[in-house]
Amino acid sequence: MPHMTSDDTSAAVASERGLIVRSLCKEYPTRGEPLVVLRDVHLTLRAGQSAAIMGPSGSGKSTLLSILGALEPPTGGSVTLDGVDPFRLGEAELARFRNRGVGFVFQEHYLLPQCSVLENVLVPTLADRPADDPTPRARELLDRVGLSERLDHLPSELSGGERQRVAIARAMMNRPSLLLADEPTGNLDRRTADVVAELLLELHRAERTVLVCATHSASLAARFERRFEIADGGLAETAVAIGCEPRAGRD
Ligand SMILES: Nc1ncnc2c1ncn2[C@@H]1O[C@H](COP(=O)(O)OP(=O)(O)OP(=O)(O)O)[C@@H](O)[C@H]1O
Ligand SMILES: [Mg+2]
Repeated sequence: MPHMTSDDTSAAVASERGLIVRSLCKEYPTRGEPLVVLRDVHLTLRAGQSAAIMGPSGSGKSTLLSILGALEPPTGGSVTLDGVDPFRLGEAELARFRNRGVGFVFQEHYLLPQCSVLENVLVPTLADRPADDPTPRARELLDRVGLSERLDHLPSELSGGERQRVAIARAMMNRPSLLLADEPTGNLDRRTADVVAELLLELHRAERTVLVCATHSASLAARFERRFEIADGGLAETAVAIGCEPRAGRD
């Protein structure tokens, strides 16, 4: 695979703002035939668009998100974010791409238990020191998610919904072009889920981030500009929210 820097790639396709997925395939090797999870997935989302990804358990939602976030490579096809294909970057550039270009919110908050709320939101700035003091932005984000009174609290002193709000602020800290949320409200009661979803959508709109969210919740999906379903490895856009059985248990 040829090595390209992000400067090379962005110079080549600078006009392609947003997320473009072409002919994406993902197979996992098994002892027998490879397990084909994604086949020929196409998706274009402009800066500022939001998409919900639905589909049954095991259909490939998390797999798709982890490829979009460059956490694992596809078996075929390409992904570009603002004209940059992360899988053509060298190791250091790829790490920068993940840290700067992409924000993640998962079902579990993954906050550092020994760090305060404010310190947790600052974590993404530690990898490469920004020129300006990042603290004012961290405080502003925590204010926007309603936690300005809780800056010095530890994650263990917060409710589940509050922890997810910290995780959202942390994901937005480096002004990513792409915000990925994998069942971000899966552990929350309906009312808390609504609050968390609203904050996710508000921040994505305010910052014109592409937002891709995997969810089993039809009511959450209904709040997104576009909705897709993964079935048999393919991604299809659906006009209306798809009814989905509530899940019996957690992953
Ligand atoms: N590292 C891996 N190696 C082998 N198979 C994998 C790997 N990761 C995922 N899979 C398989 O890929 C398929 C899709 O998994 P994925 O986690 O993407 O589903 P999902 O749609 O997110 O499901 P859920 O709704 O339960 O979260 C599953 O059959 C899973 O077992
Ligand atoms: Mg999943």
